[in-house]
Amino acid sequence: EEIQKGKYKYFMLKEIMEQPESVYNTMRGRVLDNGTVVLGGLESRVDEILRSRRIIIIACGTSYHSGVASRPILEELTGIPVSCENGSDFLDRRAPIFRDDTVFFISQSGETADVLRTLAYCKARGALCVGITNTVGSAIARETHCGVHVNAGAEIGVASTKAYTSQCLALLLVALVLSRDKISHQARRKAIIQDLLTLPEKVKRVLELDEKIQALSADIATRKSLLILGRGYGYATALEGALKIKEVTYLHAEGILAGELKHGTLALIDEEMPIIAIATRDRLFTDLRSSLQQVAARSGNPVVICHDNDDETCDEYEHTLPVPPVQDCIQGILNVIPMQLIAYHVADMLGLDVDRPRSLAKSVTTS
Ligand code: G6P
Repeated sequence: EEIQKGKYKYFMLKEIMEQPESVYNTMRGRVLDNGTVVLGGLESRVDEILRSRRIIIIACGTSYHSGVASRPILEELTGIPVSCENGSDFLDRRAPIFRDDTVFFISQSGETADVLRTLAYCKARGALCVGITNTVGSAIARETHCGVHVNAGAEIGVASTKAYTSQCLALLLVALVLSRDKISHQARRKAIIQDLLTLPEKVKRVLELDEKIQALSADIATRKSLLILGRGYGYATALEGALKIKEVTYLHAEGILAGELKHGTLALIDEEMPIIAIATRDRLFTDLRSSLQQVAARSGNPVVICHDNDDETCDEYEHTLPVPPVQDCIQGILNVIPMQLIAYHVADMLGLDVDRPRSLAKSVTTS
């Protein structure tokens, strides 16, 4: 085990730091220099997926968040309605499912019982079942009709990090494959693919924030609770950031949809409440800023994740984490990394066993 961890104290840190390579591996042989995207495991089913009435994403935990992160681009590029469902809740409801539905089952391990049970339920009702897993030969990979391997490499830390960014990326590749013949989307697809080619380099730049993040983590480690604000593409990042913090630090953390702030959570905000805001510039930036003004009006002092070329935001806030700008649908892959590092450092500072958080298992094979 010591050999596998190399110079790192914990697998979680090693896996966070490996992300330039793991995102590269997810794209290897799939995103080609000539601007095409190929996913061999999906090829024979592309037309069938495009004919479906809706796409349903089913997953648990971090994998569920990768579904939430990818829904907007899947909807934009395919025009098919996409919903995200928790494996257990979908079955609890005995939700209706039809022969012309396509269901994506996302799972790092490929063995999660709640997802497997839902897969059996959907398959029996004639839906097209697509597996997106990080484990070749896993139950979900075997039981689905077709699928995509995430190729992030083995993940050992219980808190998922590199598998999450690669799942988001794999789902983005699915959206690019499904839209390859849509003339009206070609400019957008081209811009996305262009950014993908330099993504590993940009992941590296975010990882260079580590020292700054460590300093911010020392303060968070003294607190009891933390709110993470985001909207649009930033919402999934907020949910996933909060989950990372809960899993390994045992602090209470909540990912808040910024648009919902005024409908309840605003009551929690004062100068004491630690807040992280995801404020990279995209279509919803102005709305996000107005949430930040509401926070400022209550003496909140957020840590702001913003673009490194956004001088205005960088100057306005005392604590910023500047990240490189990429297309909005890729930005979450970069923006989640500071939160993975915060979770790691806070847990380490608190002397916790980062790789084996209490009460949690890497793979939950019972319902
Ligand atoms: C467990 C793990 C989580 C993981 C979830 C789903 O709860 O502790 O880290 O996100 O299962 O796992 P899966 O292997 O299906 O992605």
